[in-house]
Amino acid sequence: MLTTTQAPFIEDAQRRGELFIHQPYELYSAENHEAWRRSYARMLPRWHRFANPAFLKGIDSLCLNHEAVPRLEEVNRFLNPLTGFQARPVSGYIPAFLFFDCLRNRTFPTTITIRDSRNLDYLPEPDIFHDVAGHVPMHTDRAFAETLVRFGECAHTAAELVSGIRDEHEQLQRLTSIIRAMARFFWFTVEFGLMRSKEGLRVYGSGLLSSFGEIEHSLESPDVQRYPIQLEWAINQSFEIDHYQPLLFIVDSFDHLFSLVDTLEKWMREGKLNHVAPGEPGVNELDLKSFLHAHAAI
Ligand SMILES: [Fe+2]
Repeated sequence: MLTTTQAPFIEDAQRRGELFIHQPYELYSAENHEAWRRSYARMLPRWHRFANPAFLKGIDSLCLNHEAVPRLEEVNRFLNPLTGFQARPVSGYIPAFLFFDCLRNRTFPTTITIRDSRNLDYLPEPDIFHDVAGHVPMHTDRAFAETLVRFGECAHTAAELVSGIRDEHEQLQRLTSIIRAMARFFWFTVEFGLMRSKEGLRVYGSGLLSSFGEIEHSLESPDVQRYPIQLEWAINQSFEIDHYQPLLFIVDSFDHLFSLVDTLEKWMREGKLNHVAPGEPGVNELDLKSFLHAHAAI
């Protein structure tokens, strides 16, 4: 079986230090397919009510399987000709620089395990439903795909900028701040973003698109603050991952989102990301190392 946190195939890959793996499709159990089928069936009506039009077009053009866990090779056959993107199976957490660099190369690191069918709302870590039903349909949209690539390029800019700093303490301090700013931006856009549309506000963030409860809550609850995005706010705003988001940011379009990534890079070069407000998310040593060792590859 390939159930989240209970998959020996994944544990073995992690023990061997393999980040990129294949999707051993025969290992999915009947329960695993059932978890996909039920997750998909209950989300579909909510997507039609709350998701942005590019996402709805995306699930159609990918011909996503409703009944069973999709084969990534099949997903890629539909995805690749549209934007050049592909979903690539990984064994779990990918250090920050490597993750962003994959985006730059139009590759999306994709989890292959799936949540426990007995509790569809409990997600100890991202799963294939979040990644393939939440993220991948967005990668069929050209403007959105270009934004992800541009964001990946920013990671290279960051690695290049900090590689020139001699003082090790200063280098780590600045890099931590830049990674934190990038992670916050990613969180408030790609994972939890809202977008204006002719019909009103719609969801484009994948954390919302893959959550049965939060997709509705994000647009309809009076407990959520929804504001037009301001870059200076988003990069200084901490967030917590273990409950529904109380604060969400709105973009006008994916072209607008792209222009924000441009500004993010400009600010990075000007040093404006060197001292963002402290707080979540934490930046771990693997993330820092991935950037520090990146400059050799530039
Ligand atoms: Fe995600």
